Formats: sequence, C-alpha cells, structure tokens
Amino acid sequence: MLKIKKLLSADDLSKEDLMEIIELGKEIVKSPSDFSNSCNGKLLGTLFFEPSTRTRLSFESAMSRLGGKVIGFSDANSSSSQKGESLRDTVKTVSQYVDIIAMRHPMEGAAKLASETADCPIINAGDGGHQHPTQTLTDILTIMETKNTLEGHKIGICGDLKYGRTVHSLLKVMSMFDNNEYVLISPDELKLPDNVKKFVFEDNNLEYEERTNLDDSLEDLDILYMTRIQKERFFSMNQYIRLKDSYVLTKDKLKKAKDDMIILHPLPRVNEISTDVDKDPRAVYFKQAKYGMYVRMALILKLLEANNA
Ligand code: CP
Repeated sequence: MLKIKKLLSADDLSKEDLMEIIELGKEIVKSPSDFSNSCNGKLLGTLFFEPSTRTRLSFESAMSRLGGKVIGFSDANSSSSQKGESLRDTVKTVSQYVDIIAMRHPMEGAAKLASETADCPIINAGDGGHQHPTQTLTDILTIMETKNTLEGHKIGICGDLKYGRTVHSLLKVMSMFDNNEYVLISPDELKLPDNVKKFVFEDNNLEYEERTNLDDSLEDLDILYMTRIQKERFFSMNQYIRLKDSYVLTKDKLKKAKDDMIILHPLPRVNEISTDVDKDPRAVYFKQAKYGMYVRMALILKLLEANNA
C-alpha cells in the first residue's frame, strides 16, 4: 500500500511508493482488460485551468478503462471561477461529487492549496512551472518498459532545462537509482537551475556533465530526453525567438546514436524533433504517451486503495 494519500510532487515519492505504482503499471500494460471493472462506481474529477491534451485525456481514458466515470472542465472560463469563485471553494465543491481529482493550474502551489481543502485525494496534473509528477511516472514506466531497468544508463537531457518542470522531477527520481550518468545539454541561458543541481546531484554525490552541443553528445547515450523550449515561461519574447531553434533532432543526426538508444519527449513538441524521426524505432515518445495512460490507471487505483484503507 502507498504511504502517500495524494500526489502533489514527484519529490513526495519514496522509491518504494514509486516502484509500487510502476509495478502495477507494468501489470496493466500486459493485460489492461483485467482492470476494466476495478473502478466501477468511482468518479474522477478533472479540473483543468490550463490547456492540456495528453494529461487530461489520458486521465479521462484511464478512469474510463478502469470502469469509472469522469466529470470536469477543460476550460476555466466554463466554470464559476469566472464569477470570482476561489480555487479553494471550487475544489471543495467538486470534492463533494467525486472520489479523486486531477487538477492542472497555472499557479505554482495550486495543487497543494487544493489538497488542503478537498475532501478527496488530489493529483497534481501540473502547477505552473513547478511540478508535473504524473509525467515523471510516465517517463519512468516508459524507461522500464523499453530498457527493463532504471539503472546503468547514460541519460542525455536536452533543451529547456531551466523552465522544463518535467526534467527537474525526472532527474530527482532517477537520482534514486544506481549507476546512471547524466549529460545536460542546453543553451547557457537555459541551464538547469542551481537549486535543482543541488538537490539532484550534489546532495546525492552524483556527477553530471553540462554541454551546449547535441550532435557531439549523441554517440554514447542510452536515453535521450528531448524537451520543448517553453515559450509560455519566458519573460522576453526576443530571448525566446533567439533560443527556440537551439536544437532540432533529425534522422540524419541520429546516425551517430546507438541502435538501442531511446528518444523520449513529454510532448507537445514544436520543432525540436523533426517528424522524419517519428518512424525510427528508437523514437518512443508516442508510446510514452500511451504508457502515460497506463501509469495513471495504476496511480488512480493505488491512491484510491490508500485512501480507503
Ligand atoms: N506532456 C503533457 O503534459 O502534455 P499536455 O500539456 O498536452 O497535457
């Protein structure tokens, strides 16, 4: 049984809790139909105050595939927050109707605030530039399913390492596993923040390399995690325009990479992975989106179990 009763941050996940969710995710991948009645009579609320394709729809399909039902909104303009209702009151109200809530909000800390008032478990589906823990679960299940282990990998993380919330959580979680090497590839302006370097690498006595060139880094990677330059987090549009094309992975560049390297991306992509890469067997980012649904099925089941204990 999970020790956590809600999921606000990937930092809240112990290795034991993480692996419990991932192991159930693996069982679901093998035989999803075995779980098709596991949430009969249960209701998920999806409160999305910010745009989303994958996270919202994978949560909704996850609950439907578990036999449960979903209510919610994908546009805050259609909710009473437009009349001035506070987030606390919206969440408190919806938690009277549902058994579990997945919420995305532009404000950092919104999920924590929601969890203080809700009468049901809250899952953070993204709070501003802060946390996106279910993306981390998605990434970890994808690595497990494609590489069979979370240890002994040379992992390259490329793109916007400053604003990319998924990168910070993924690195934190991977730091719990042994013998991984880390190559951080970004423009100088978008390097991993010092506080993240401290809690991921320094606090765990782990080494990392920082580079600016992707092409020179491809040769010996086992995992390449590409990220989008996060336009919506920039204060200066000029800076965004200057940096937006820093990295474009193409079929040609991949000739240098190992045959069994995997390419992950949380999606959505803009132009950082050329579409000619999509057919390459190493490109697993659309499979990753599917694993996101399976791991959210596992998370819903595990949180409901922990809250009913
Ligand atoms: N990866 C991800 O969070 O995608 P969405 O913004 O489409 O949910």
